[in-house]
Amino acid sequence: MEDRRSAMEQIAVDPDVYSADGPYYPDDWQSETTSIGSSIYRGLMENGRRYQNLRHQDYLIPSDDQMFESYEAGHLVALVLDSDRENPLFRAPVRDARQILDIGTGKGIWAIDVADMFPNATVRGVDLFPPPVSWMPPNCVLEVDDILQEWTWREPFDLIHMRIMIGSFDPAEWDRVYKQCYDNLQPGGWIEQLEASPRVECDDGSLPEDNILHTWGPNIFACGEAAGRECDTLDTMHEAIQKAGFVDIQDITYKWPIGPWARDKRFKEAGTVNFHHWMSGMEGWCMWLLTKFGSPEPWTKDEVLVYVAKLRKELKNPRFHIYQRARRVWARKPFPDEVERSAKTQEGSAGKSDISGGKH
Ligand SMILES: C[S@@+](CC[C@H](N)C(=O)[O-])C[C@H]1O[C@@H](n2cnc3c(N)ncnc32)[C@H](O)[C@@H]1O
Repeated sequence: MEDRRSAMEQIAVDPDVYSADGPYYPDDWQSETTSIGSSIYRGLMENGRRYQNLRHQDYLIPSDDQMFESYEAGHLVALVLDSDRENPLFRAPVRDARQILDIGTGKGIWAIDVADMFPNATVRGVDLFPPPVSWMPPNCVLEVDDILQEWTWREPFDLIHMRIMIGSFDPAEWDRVYKQCYDNLQPGGWIEQLEASPRVECDDGSLPEDNILHTWGPNIFACGEAAGRECDTLDTMHEAIQKAGFVDIQDITYKWPIGPWARDKRFKEAGTVNFHHWMSGMEGWCMWLLTKFGSPEPWTKDEVLVYVAKLRKELKNPRFHIYQRARRVWARKPFPDEVERSAKTQEGSAGKSDISGGKH
C-alpha cells in the first residue's frame, strides 16, 4: 500500500538538470544519434525490404536477410570459379599482410574467410549496415561506417578489397574512394576489386532474342544512369584505378554461368550456386531502382514483383545457356622512388614536346 501510494505521487524534478554546467546535465539528450545503435539495426523499411539508414543518401540495395542470403551465394560463386587456386579469395600477391580492409563487406563473409586464412593479419570489414554475424575469428573486425566519410583507421593497409559495389557511388565518389584507398595503402600495397555485370548473356543463341531476360540488364543500366549511379563499374574500374595512380594493373574476366547447364564440373557447380544468387537477389537488386527510376514512369511495387516472377520463371529453364560477365582487377600502389621516377619521365616528355613544338 505504502509503495503504491508513493508511485502515484508527483515525480520530483531534479533541479540540477537546468544548470548547463551542473554535474548531471545530459548535454546529448536531444541528439538524434543517442540511440544510433538500435536505429541503425532497424534500418528503413520500404516496399517490404529493409535499407540502411546511416548514409543520408539512399543505397539502392536492401540490407536484409534475403539480401544476405544472396551475398552468401555470390561469395560461393566467386570461390568455386577460383577453387583451383591455393587462395581463391584474392589474387593480389600480398605477402605477410598485417592490415586488410574489405569495403562494403555486406555479410562480412569475405572478411571472415580471409581472417581465417591469414591469422596474423587484422581484417576489417566496413559497411553502412551492421553485418549480421554472431561469431568472428578474433582477428576480424566488422565496423559500421560510410566509406565516403573521412577514414579514421590509423594503420596503413596492405590490401584493400571491394566486391560487387556496383551502383554504390556516382563517378566523382568512385574517384574519391579510389583516392582514399591509394592514400591509405602502404607503398607496395594492393587494391583488388571484383564486379559482376547485370547483363544476361548467351553465346549459342539458346536464349531467344525476345526473352524477357534480355530486358534485365538494360533496365538496370537505364535506372542506374537515371539515379546517377551508373551500373557499368565492371567496365570502368580498370581505368578508374589506373587514374588514381596505381601501377601493375592486372585484370581477369570470368563468365559466371546462371544455372547448371555447363558440362564442366566447376562451371556446373558455380552455375547452380549463381542460379540461387539470382533467385534470392533479383528482387532486392531492382526494387529501389525500378520504383524510383523505372521507365516510362516509376513502377509500383506490384509491377516489380510481377516482373521478377517472370524473370525467375525464365531463369528456371535449363535450356537457356546463360551467364553474366564478372571481372577482377588488382593493382599496386607504387613505392615513392617509382612515383618520383615516373614524375621525372613525364616532365621530360612534356619538355621534349615543347621543344619539338617550338621547332615547327
Ligand atoms: C552488393 S553488396 C556486396 C557485399 C559484399 N562485398 C559481398 O560481395 O558479398 C554492397 C555493399 O556495399 C555497402 N556499401 C554501399 N555504399 C557504402 C558506403 N558508402 N560505405 C560503406 N559501405 C557501403 C552496402 O551496404 C552493401 O552491403
